[in-house]
Amino acid sequence: MFVEIGPHPVMLGMGRQCLPPETGVWLPSLRRGQSDWQQLLQSLASLSVQGVKVDWSGFDQDYQRHIVPLPTYPFQRSRYWIDTVPPNSIDIIPQISQNGANPPVHTPQTTPLDWLEALSAEQVKSVLESQDLANVSQRLANLSSEKHQLLKLLLGQGQSQFSPEYLTDAMVTDSLYEVKWQPQERTQEAETQATEPGQWLIFADYGGVGQALAENLRSHGHRCCLIYPGEVYQSLPGGIGTINAADPNHFQQLFQETLGNNSLPCHGVIHLWSLEAEKSEALTPSSLEESQVLGCGSVLHLVQALVQTLVNTASATLPKLWLVTSGTQAVEASRAPLALAQASLWGMGGVIALEHSEIWGGLLDLDPSISDNSDHKGATQQAMALFPEIWQPDGEDHIAFRQGQRYVARLVSSKPTQPQSLPVQADGIYLITGGLGSLGLRVARWMVEQGAKNLVLLGRRGLPPSEQWASLPQDSESWKRVNAVQGLKAMGAKVIVAQADVSNQDQMSEVFEHLRNTQIPLKGVIHAAGIENYQEMQGMDLNVLQATLQPKVMGAWLLHQLTQGMNLDFFVCFSSIASVWGSKGQADYAAANAFLDAIAHHRQALGLPALSINWGPWSGSAMVSEEVKTLLKRMGLDPWQPEEAMSILPDLLGSNSPQLIAAKVNWDVFKPIYEVKGQRALLANMGVNSQIKHSQIKHSQIDQNESTPAQRPDFLQQLENAPAHKRQDLLVAYLQKEVIQVLRLDPSHPPKSQQGFAELGMDSLMAVELKSRLEASLGQTLSSTLAFNYPNIETLANYLAQDVLCLDRPEESVGLSHSDHDQSSTAEAELEELSEDDLASLLDEELGSLVFN
Ligand SMILES: NC(=O)c1ccc[n+]([C@@H]2O[C@H](COP(=O)([O-])OP(=O)(O)OC[C@H]3O[C@@H](n4cnc5c(N)ncnc54)[C@H](OP(=O)(O)O)[C@@H]3O)[C@@H](O)[C@H]2O)c1
Repeated sequence: MFVEIGPHPVMLGMGRQCLPPETGVWLPSLRRGQSDWQQLLQSLASLSVQGVKVDWSGFDQDYQRHIVPLPTYPFQRSRYWIDTVPPNSIDIIPQISQNGANPPVHTPQTTPLDWLEALSAEQVKSVLESQDLANVSQRLANLSSEKHQLLKLLLGQGQSQFSPEYLTDAMVTDSLYEVKWQPQERTQEAETQATEPGQWLIFADYGGVGQALAENLRSHGHRCCLIYPGEVYQSLPGGIGTINAADPNHFQQLFQETLGNNSLPCHGVIHLWSLEAEKSEALTPSSLEESQVLGCGSVLHLVQALVQTLVNTASATLPKLWLVTSGTQAVEASRAPLALAQASLWGMGGVIALEHSEIWGGLLDLDPSISDNSDHKGATQQAMALFPEIWQPDGEDHIAFRQGQRYVARLVSSKPTQPQSLPVQADGIYLITGGLGSLGLRVARWMVEQGAKNLVLLGRRGLPPSEQWASLPQDSESWKRVNAVQGLKAMGAKVIVAQADVSNQDQMSEVFEHLRNTQIPLKGVIHAAGIENYQEMQGMDLNVLQATLQPKVMGAWLLHQLTQGMNLDFFVCFSSIASVWGSKGQADYAAANAFLDAIAHHRQALGLPALSINWGPWSGSAMVSEEVKTLLKRMGLDPWQPEEAMSILPDLLGSNSPQLIAAKVNWDVFKPIYEVKGQRALLANMGVNSQIKHSQIKHSQIDQNESTPAQRPDFLQQLENAPAHKRQDLLVAYLQKEVIQVLRLDPSHPPKSQQGFAELGMDSLMAVELKSRLEASLGQTLSSTLAFNYPNIETLANYLAQDVLCLDRPEESVGLSHSDHDQSSTAEAELEELSEDDLASLLDEELGSLVFN
């Protein structure tokens, strides 16, 4: 280290040349053109950094300085290590080895299912025989309920039953459903929705049902506005007006005027405009189109305006929306033609229930056999049926009335009937609309395999001109379609590619004219044309809705009309589960498919062949990308492999049912997610494990309360041991940790306790995950809607503290501790005296506030 003492560094350069390059540190004391003090300090700093001991107190002695502590830098360490958790099935491997079998190696990368599937039949059998099934199932926690079912079936059968046919049968049994209407009177406990006087908006029919309903409501002291469908916005005296179904601005204006600030609370919005739709026997393409605007179109605008107005006015009372139709549901066993033009509204209703559960009332289908007459007796009768449903809802939202009886809809498992081979005739011709799409081409191939020789594949785009085929980029959409058609031809089929829009009457008439000219009789129709759209109702416009409705609604109607008088063997519509239980972001698609379901029932009632298949998602189709597939699986919906779906088609066709739902659903996963914003009566029979019965919950509560501290979840013990005044903070910190885990947040930035879960990005899947985590660590059964009812950490902590864990009573410990047991020994003796029923009701009272919220 060299320091030159002088007015300017002259010697430093010369000195450097005497030593090898990069050797030593060369520092000036002063430098011309630079402030002396600056240069001296710089060199002193370099010396200090180089490790020279500086006498700082000597340096500071001329100055008045003192040392202040600076805040330390917060090192917010985040962990980015990937956790590898060994699958929980690993410990069943030794069991098999003990049984002498030699299983494939199980690595942490394989899922339990992969591993199970790699086993031979012999090995599976030995796993199943090695211990009780419940134990195995528990270890194979990732298996769907369907696979559990399969395991059970396998266990019950000999090894000879491990055939593909047997497995297909087992799968069909587990994946088929239908909607059944069951008679059900209203429950007595239903609470009155509208206790304080308020107003009701009735989108009234000209037949008088709305008017009769309004009279009834007025007689209970409520105000009613009757809005009729018309061309212009018109406000008439006496709370009557007209608006245009196709004009969203009319709805906005109406709701601002009626529900704006300072208006009476609105208890309900009743939509009866569908009753104005044309009857099926008089339906024409143009009246069918009008009816879709009057029904689904107006409801789309209504929901948009209603939600918008409620957000802007921050109204305390949320009105319930009820959608009324007449004769759209096949309720009774004796099949009757349906009111087709109104039917799509039921599909849309199922989606409103998911997207806007806060305003959802339900779907009500009136008895079409009650006709109106001049003295409006029929309308009064219909209004009398509607009134109790909107006045005192009882949790049912799929309701129908027939012959004075009230019915509610339930999804039930369906048993396949005798599988039938497709009645395919080599001398018949078969029309597949959407025939060049993913499912269309798959079905076409299958039909040729079944013996079909003549196919018409219909779509708007058709195939490119044949001279371009050779130059089509490989794997392009067009190339795939050309290739598939060539493949069908190579299998010996004659394939006509019809370029036509299935919803265009002229184009379809031309197609049928062409078919007639072939002199080959049309023997079957598969209607698989459709477009899918993912958009929530708030952002959807009428054009989008109509575009999605067209191929299914108008398409199916034209096919129904154009095939009249033909001796068809089958008329199959490819519908979707979206029309049965709804699908968020698919109001238009669900509505379109609901029409397919209705037309199948309608045709069967007319003695015509028909089947609507509400397919669950298909893997590898244009509509189910890999990303969607992953999401669906997380939700408990396992997409069909095309081969699986084709293998169950004969079972579906063999059934007499006009409508079958074919979906692979793990209800234990799917149902809690689906019901995260509220329970749905339609699914009441689904999901055995998630349907914890009241009594079971009670028992689990009792067990829990009686458990020793050692058995109690860690966090509960921690809470118990903490001083009462610290428990609330502990709970908030614990919730923060859980929310971080569920939302995969950076732990160094914990969410604020008042930040909304939705704002943080919590979706339904995550809300269910949070609920499950809390259940595990608190040892309590919690509601599926927990995260929605208590939408931030603060409100959730308060709820858990006060209602679930009773922390607001510091003198009591969490749950029931040993000392409580001692103190309550007298009470126990008294309890022993009670009958089982008395005990049950007492427990209901005691535990009700803990379990049901
Ligand atoms: N994929 C699934 O997971 C799934 C699940 C449940 C139900 N479905 C139903 O099954 C059917 C087939 O689905 P996919 O996955 O095969 O869909 P896709 O690949 O998109 O095929 C649909 C076909 O319909 C045709 N199409 C649409 N609008 C038409 C119109 N107006 N006139 C004539 N053809 C029309 C399209 O061809 P152009 O564009 O050339 O007209 C397209 O090739 C659909 O109806 C769908 O709703 C599918």
